Amino acid sequence: MTQPSSPIANSRELTLPQDATSWVEVSQSAIAHNIKQLNHAGASSGGQPKLCVMVKGNGYGHGLLTAATCFRAAGVAWLGVHDLSEIKILRGAGFTLPLYCVGYLRPDQVADAIALQARFVCYDAEVVRAASLAAVAQDQPARLHVKIETGNNRQGLRHDEAVAFTGWAAAQPGVHIEGLCTHFADIEDTTDHGFARSQLQRFRQTEQAIRDALQLPARGSPEDQLLAHCSNTAAILLWPEVCGQLARCGIGAYGLWPSKETYLSVRELGKEPLVLHPAMAWKTVIAQVRAVPTGEYVGYGRTWRAVRPSRVAILPVGYYDGYDRGLSNIGQVLIDGWRAPVIGRVAMNMVAVDVTDRPRAEVGTTVTLLGSAQDENGNSESVRAEDLAAWLGTIHYEVTTRIAAHVPRVIVP
Ligand SMILES: Cc1ncc(COP(=O)(O)O)c(C=O)c1O
Repeated sequence: MTQPSSPIANSRELTLPQDATSWVEVSQSAIAHNIKQLNHAGASSGGQPKLCVMVKGNGYGHGLLTAATCFRAAGVAWLGVHDLSEIKILRGAGFTLPLYCVGYLRPDQVADAIALQARFVCYDAEVVRAASLAAVAQDQPARLHVKIETGNNRQGLRHDEAVAFTGWAAAQPGVHIEGLCTHFADIEDTTDHGFARSQLQRFRQTEQAIRDALQLPARGSPEDQLLAHCSNTAAILLWPEVCGQLARCGIGAYGLWPSKETYLSVRELGKEPLVLHPAMAWKTVIAQVRAVPTGEYVGYGRTWRAVRPSRVAILPVGYYDGYDRGLSNIGQVLIDGWRAPVIGRVAMNMVAVDVTDRPRAEVGTTVTLLGSAQDENGNSESVRAEDLAAWLGTIHYEVTTRIAAHVPRVIVP
């Protein structure tokens, strides 16, 4: 019998509350491996882009501080966040790394963001005015990254607007235009990258026009200080030469490929796909094992009925914790490396699994809801985030980020 205390013993920096009913383990070595691989991929074009690793969305579900701790240890240059609350949490926890806010800042939050030395995306004159006032008052630069609209229709400014806006913003006291950015709409959704290529082309045209208008040095020249960035994980993997000085990397840093389309496209390009190591495991324990006679039901709605004398294990986790109700009668978990089907409806705090064929399953046995586990013969099985996403008809980004914030995250070697 494995006790849930094992990850507690392994945890570093963060402590797991003893009364937690499930927990997420984040592998420091997997993160270190992924960062090394992504750095290597970025460098394959001859340059060495800095990685700005996204820790928004509670570190893609790995825990904001847990993920940031692992990325800092792995030598990541910048961290990417969505909003001021994340900036405050990271600075409050002593993170001194450059923080780049890619999401939403209200004008009245800008002064705090600057005081906390965060740089941020910008497409709004009110934000620039607030940034300029705060920068002058605090006697430090407001570092802004202007977002260019190239096909996503989120946040960005179209070519002419972007050129005029950047020229005006650069002239405001205390404002430093540190970067220009855009975001691909479908690079990971398809093996046809025509649209992404057209976005890149539009981005380059606007970037050049802004360089001309502001009389900035040529892209890539030794004097060039402007960070022009558009690469997410898929772009790093497909087109490392596009990264320039900065690449905004999310899913790959956590050890997941953006999609199978990206994997296939990398193969089609004749490249050897990177081997990434998923950093997350989500675990719980068996709370109860019960005998269910033939003909009896399990769970709300009576959606599962025993067709043989069955042993059913009850897990103390449910949709409140982020174990999606859509996994009812579909999902699978690993019990010591052996697959057990979810039976009946996933409830708010409980899930039932069929362990009839697994006599070793008993109260206290560790159960892997997401991740890999080995059976007693050393055979490894996995329930991947991609598997859960396929069962649920969604993407793995959503699966990991949906694990509730109250579930403790622990760092394991
Ligand atoms: C602006 C921006 N850049 C980069 C990323 C990272 O994308 P990925 O996780 O596919 O690497 C995201 C993720 O949503 C994003 O919103």
